[in-house]
Amino acid sequence: MCGIVGFIGTKNAKEVLLNGLEKLEYRGYDSAGIALKSQDSVLVAKEKGRIADLREEVPADAFGEIGIGHTRWATHGKPSHANAHPHQSKSGRYTIVHNGVIENYSLLTDEYLADVGFASDTDTEVIVLLIELFASQGLTTKQAFTKTLSLLHGSYAICLIDNQDNETLYAAKNKSPLLIGTGKDFNVIASDAMAVIRETNQFIEIMDEEIVIVKRDGVTIETLDGEEVTREAYTATLDASDIEKGTYPHYMLKETDEQPAVIRKIIQAYQNEEGEITVDGTIVNEVLASDRIHIVACGTSYHAGLVGKNLIEKLAQIPVEVHVSSEFGYNMPLLSEKPLFIFITQSGETADSRQVLVKVKEMGYRSLTITNVPGSTLDREADHTMHLHAGPEIAVASTKAYTAQIAALSILATVVGRAKGLETAKQFDLAVELGIVANAMETLVDSKEIIEHIAGEYLATTRNAFFLGRHIDYFVAMEAALKLKEISYIQAEGFASGELKHGTIALIEEGTPVLALITQESINWNIRGNVKEVLARGANACILAMEGVNQPGDQFVIPKVHELLTPLASVVPCQLLAYYAALHRGCDVDKPRNLAKSVTVE
Ligand code: G6P
Repeated sequence: MCGIVGFIGTKNAKEVLLNGLEKLEYRGYDSAGIALKSQDSVLVAKEKGRIADLREEVPADAFGEIGIGHTRWATHGKPSHANAHPHQSKSGRYTIVHNGVIENYSLLTDEYLADVGFASDTDTEVIVLLIELFASQGLTTKQAFTKTLSLLHGSYAICLIDNQDNETLYAAKNKSPLLIGTGKDFNVIASDAMAVIRETNQFIEIMDEEIVIVKRDGVTIETLDGEEVTREAYTATLDASDIEKGTYPHYMLKETDEQPAVIRKIIQAYQNEEGEITVDGTIVNEVLASDRIHIVACGTSYHAGLVGKNLIEKLAQIPVEVHVSSEFGYNMPLLSEKPLFIFITQSGETADSRQVLVKVKEMGYRSLTITNVPGSTLDREADHTMHLHAGPEIAVASTKAYTAQIAALSILATVVGRAKGLETAKQFDLAVELGIVANAMETLVDSKEIIEHIAGEYLATTRNAFFLGRHIDYFVAMEAALKLKEISYIQAEGFASGELKHGTIALIEEGTPVLALITQESINWNIRGNVKEVLARGANACILAMEGVNQPGDQFVIPKVHELLTPLASVVPCQLLAYYAALHRGCDVDKPRNLAKSVTVE
C-alpha cells in the first residue's frame, strides 16, 4: 500500500527518492510523486500511474538536498494527478506526504477549515492545511505539526517539509509503519527498510504518536507531549541483492522458485545442534497453557491458517479456530478461558490483523505473530514471534511466504505435540518430511513447461474457473483460486467439491474449467465422482493428483510427500498455473491492478 521515502543530506535527493519509490512499488500503488526542496523553493512532481511515468515528469535538472516521495494507493479520491501526493498548503510553505486514513477529516474541515477550498479529494490535505493554519496563528512548525497530530483520528505516517527551513525534515506515525535510516551527513525516512537499504543499514524505529525532527547530522524523537525519547539504531539484516529480480522476468516466478531453499532454511533455523526441531520454550509453554487457539489472518495468510488448524489439531490436539481478521475484530466469537491468538502475516503490517491484536491485548490475552518481517509492527507488538526466514517477498501474489507459514505452523504443532507426549507427533520425523517436501518442490518448479501448457489449455481465455478439493485440498483450492484471481483477473472459486451439487454446479457450462486437487487417499474416489458430475455437464476438467492416488489420464502428477504436508507441494503447480494464465492474458504479474502487498488501512 502507500509508501514513503524522505531524505535530508548534502547531495541531490532526487535519485534516492525515485530509487526508493521503485523499491516500494511492490506494495501496490496507483500514483506517485516527489517534492524536492532547494534553498528557497519546493518543486513538486506527481503523476498517476507508474514510477517510470513520474521519472518523465521530474525535470532533469531538479535539485534539492531535502526531499520527500510517495506512492499512493487510492482510498479517499480516485487515482489522479490532483489526488497524488505530495500535497501543499495554500501558500506553498508546507509540503507533506501521508500514508493511512484520517477518519475525522471532514469533522476537522468543518471545525477549522470551513472557508478553505481544497485542491484534492484526499483526507491528507486537511493535515497540511491545519499545519499552515496553526503556523499562521503564531505557532512554530514543530508546534503546529504537533497540534495537528493531536487532532487526528486514524492512521498515519507523515513526512513534512517547511519551505522556510533548510535544515529540517519532520516525520510522525500512528499505526502506519515508518522508520528512520541514519547515515553520515544524511538521514532517510522510509515506510520500509528495503526502500533505502542502498543508503544505509542502520535504522531507528518510530513508535506511535511520536514526532521526529530529522536534520542532516542528527535525529530527535519526542512524544507529542514534548518528552525526548532515546532509542538506539538497529542493523537491518536485509541484503540489497535479496530485493533484485536477477535474471527472472518477474518476482513472482523468482519467489516461487525459491520455495525449496526457503523450506530448507526454515528447517535449519528451527533445528538445534542435535538436529532436533525446536521452538522457543516460552512459546511452547504459551501454547500448552491455552485451551483454544484462534488463528487470525487475511488473504493468503488466512489460507495458510486453515492448513495450520489441521496440523495443530492433528499433531498437538488443541482445538483451533481460524478467522478472517477484518471480521473477527468486529464480531468476536465466545472466547474460552485461556485462548491464545496466533497472527499470521507475511508483512507484519496488515492493519486488519493489527486492530485485532490491539483489541485482544486490551482484553489481556496472549499472542504470537508468525511473520516474515522482523521488526514489523505485529512482530513488535505481540507477546511472541516466530520468523519465517523466507527473505523479502516482493511480488504482490504471495507464494514463498504461504509455504513458509505452513512449514512454521507444522514446526510449532509438532514441537507442542511432542511436549505433550503425543505419539503422532513423536513419530512424525518433521525435519526429514520437510526435506522430502523441498525435493518435491524442486521437481515441481522444474515442471514449468507442462504447467504452462495446462494454463494455456484451461485458463488462457476463460471468464471463470473452479478449483475443487476435499479435506486439506479444499484449503489449497481456495489459495489456488485466490492466486488466479489476483494476477489473471479470472473469476475463480475454490470449492469443497462435495458441496458443489448443492447449488454451485448450476454455474458449470460447456467448457467451464474445473481443476481438481487430489492428495488424500481418504477422499480420492469421492472427488473423482464430483469430477464426473461436472464432466457430465460439459466442464473442461483437469486433475492434479499426488503420486500414490493418481490415476491414468490425470493431467498432472504431484510428487509424494507426507499426507499432513501435502499443501506445501500441491500449491506449487497452482501458483505456476496462475502465473502462466496471467502471462497468457497479458497481465502485469508483479503489479496486479487494485491490489497492495502491504495493506496498512482497515
Ligand atoms: C494483501 C495481499 C495478499 C496478502 C494479504 C495479507 O491483501 O495482497 O497477498 O495475503 O494482504 O497480508 P499479510 O502481510 O498480512 O500476510
